[in-house]
Amino acid sequence: MGTVTRGTTNPNRLRRMDRWIAAVHGAELRRADDPVAVDLGYGAAPWTAVELLHRLRTAAPRVRVVGVEIEPARVAAAKPYERDGLVFRHGGFEVPIPQRPHLIRAANVLRQYDETEVAAAWERLCARLAPADEHTRGGLLVEGTCDEIGRRHVWVALGPEGPRTVTFATRLASLDRPSDLAERLPKVLIHRNVPGEPVHAFLRDFDRAWAAAAPYASYGARQRWIRAVRDLAAHWPVTDGPTRWRQGEVTVRWEALAPRGWTVPPARSVKGTALAGRSPSGQEGDAGETSLCRPAPERDKIPRRP
Ligand SMILES: C[S@@+](CC[C@H](N)C(=O)[O-])C[C@H]1O[C@@H](n2cnc3c(N)ncnc32)[C@H](O)[C@@H]1O
Repeated sequence: MGTVTRGTTNPNRLRRMDRWIAAVHGAELRRADDPVAVDLGYGAAPWTAVELLHRLRTAAPRVRVVGVEIEPARVAAAKPYERDGLVFRHGGFEVPIPQRPHLIRAANVLRQYDETEVAAAWERLCARLAPADEHTRGGLLVEGTCDEIGRRHVWVALGPEGPRTVTFATRLASLDRPSDLAERLPKVLIHRNVPGEPVHAFLRDFDRAWAAAAPYASYGARQRWIRAVRDLAAHWPVTDGPTRWRQGEVTVRWEALAPRGWTVPPARSVKGTALAGRSPSGQEGDAGETSLCRPAPERDKIPRRP
């Protein structure tokens, strides 16, 4: 389910995303009886799946990784790299494994789709995640984009209930200003970096905070970033703290950056969407009823900068 696209990848390209996942989702993976992570659309070579396994195992030693790729020749090419805890499967957004995964990572996959296809792809993938219960928030979908060598990265994290956060991550030494990251916004936001859209206002405010923090540059780009994010957090719902900021990251609540017109509809079924189909587990109702965010004609309540 989906479309074959260019297979461009690079070793170590997704290190920032891998480390963030290990830090914020490692405890959930450790708690699971049989933690399974999916590297969806790993590309022409299986490097990112191999690296995801290694990095996640530092946080959750029992985790297994399944690389899923829609181009069959790329699956065949990856097979020799299978090892303890790592297998490769042919498939797409249906995620063809029997379990509900605790993590789906899709990096540089939706970037090559149309903006109008994002919501249905998210919906399909979120419906495959391990469900929440009284002990866990459920699985995590991490979907985003980076440059060729992973110096600039932006991703959205979603739970079974829908989008939660947007994370910006960068190699600080290579940064002129925070809005440099605009070119790596995920598909859902890349066309929205225009006046009147929340992500444009956010990057504008971030650049201003960065400029105001210029005196801290003499202590290094990291100190300047931390100062700028601290100022930004006075007006925007930043969800993380200095430990992550030191890594050149900042995470913001999705609702603050969601495109204008994006709203939470009443619960709806994935059946009937463009990406609908029988679930890979063979259980018709496996995907279940799900309530996710979708573009809507009228803008709903979105937290705004005062
Ligand atoms: C640009 S590569 C990204 C490789 C790797 N994730 C990275 O970031 O370096 C995108 C890959 O996603 C695959 N792809 C596109 N749509 C897919 C889908 N629905 N399911 C699985 N793979 C998909 C393409 O065939 C391609 O190999």
